[in-house]
Amino acid sequence: MLFNGRTEIQRQKLKLTEAEIEQRISESSFGEQGKNWARRWLSVESYGQVGLALFKMPPIVERAENDVLIDVDGKEYIDLLAGFSVSALGQCNRDIAEVIKEQSIKLVHYFDLPHPERIKLAEKLTQITPIKGGKARVVFGVTGADAVELAVRAARYYTGRPFILTAFGDYHGVTYGTMPFTGKGGMWAYFYPVPPHDSAVGYFPFPYPYRSPFGRPPAGEDEGEYCLKKLEEYLEYYFLSKESPYREVKKDITNVAAFLVEPFQSSAGYIIPPAGYLKLLRQLADKYGILLIVDEIQTGLGRTGKLWATEWEGVEVDMLLTSKALGGGLPLSAVIARADILEAWGPGAHVSTQAGNVLACAAANKVLEIVTKEEFLAEVRHKGEYFYNGLKELQERHPLIGHIDARGLYIGIELVKNRETREPASEEAGFILDECVKNGLVFERGGYYYNRFQLIPPLTIRRSTIDRALEIFDKVFTTAEKFFSINRD
Ligand SMILES: Cc1ncc(COP(=O)(O)O)c(C=O)c1O
Repeated sequence: MLFNGRTEIQRQKLKLTEAEIEQRISESSFGEQGKNWARRWLSVESYGQVGLALFKMPPIVERAENDVLIDVDGKEYIDLLAGFSVSALGQCNRDIAEVIKEQSIKLVHYFDLPHPERIKLAEKLTQITPIKGGKARVVFGVTGADAVELAVRAARYYTGRPFILTAFGDYHGVTYGTMPFTGKGGMWAYFYPVPPHDSAVGYFPFPYPYRSPFGRPPAGEDEGEYCLKKLEEYLEYYFLSKESPYREVKKDITNVAAFLVEPFQSSAGYIIPPAGYLKLLRQLADKYGILLIVDEIQTGLGRTGKLWATEWEGVEVDMLLTSKALGGGLPLSAVIARADILEAWGPGAHVSTQAGNVLACAAANKVLEIVTKEEFLAEVRHKGEYFYNGLKELQERHPLIGHIDARGLYIGIELVKNRETREPASEEAGFILDECVKNGLVFERGGYYYNRFQLIPPLTIRRSTIDRALEIFDKVFTTAEKFFSINRD
């Protein structure tokens, strides 16, 4: 057990005291209403709130419209969080609201049983997803973690093998079933004394060229290509060597059911791997007879400027997981899989009271109608470029901006103290986030060193809102560079 024998020290370190909470509230930039609501909130809800990990104190938001959130004091915030990618079509999208309103007086819930909206949705999902062999089936869940559990269960049942291989830094949920695949020690710590990761799971390094786990390439070699080449050698060694836990070489058998990966690493900081990552995994999966499951819960449905991030590589997968934006704000998830994998299950293999909820399916049909249009996806790519170009200009003025990953409106910014050494600027990142919140801009901070900004605007963000966000970043980066005496020459 990672923290065995130190759990008490660990708990003390992880915990927030009542005094610290009060300090965070009183030092916040909120008005009186905001402070009062925050006190009410934290007098009744758990201290384990994710909002207290993302922000010193999250704004208490009462209303929203498209790309702007409005708190209980009437203060506006530019929304570069989009409910963590859920509100991809903007807050309170009128088309979706209309569908939900109409459906709510026809049929609201029908257990985990068939209804026309669900059937239409399953049909559509099988048509638009790049599943190997072309013939697909669907299974519905409520949350992203549901989809991950369903996929892993189906992969293990179908192959009869236990192991799931995933990348360090991937995020696939925080239930007992999914925690093994979200290899984050800080989160595992909250599950002790039962270690959730003692499941059949193996990890390999994620190929992030800017901080490659394989070091920098020899002079003249491309960082991305080098990183991927090294990953291939690593994974082959993993499987091929006589000492591999995943394969018996002489008899040519494997213990691995599937690769389960995020195409881009989202919760780890919106990190884009080199082109060819999924192709490599597809190639290895085919070579060793295992499945490839891609978790597009965050990257899918237009976020990267294509319907699925997987499409950037032209790869067909054995299973694809979707959730977040799918229900247009209502909870819904789905696994789209090779038909033969889901045909292996008998009746009652899965059930969830709220899965495939009627309102959520109706909203999802509208979401798909919008995000599958090529003009919509092209506009996401254009706005993404617009945002990226604005950030590139900021990078010229602000040495703290070390690297920018961007594909469509999937944008990650890496902050460094020094561009040569790439030393992570974690404290500076925290300072900037706090200042941005004060200035009316919200987004998430993440990254392996807690030094990245994840920009997840609604796909419907206005260009004028992007301009305003860039202005706030410009101002706050200037303040931070003065505060931390970062040389701007
Ligand atoms: C890629 C990915 N997979 C799975 C999940 C888990 O989804 P949920 O929080 O709905 O269980 C998330 C959530 O952030 C995610 O980003």
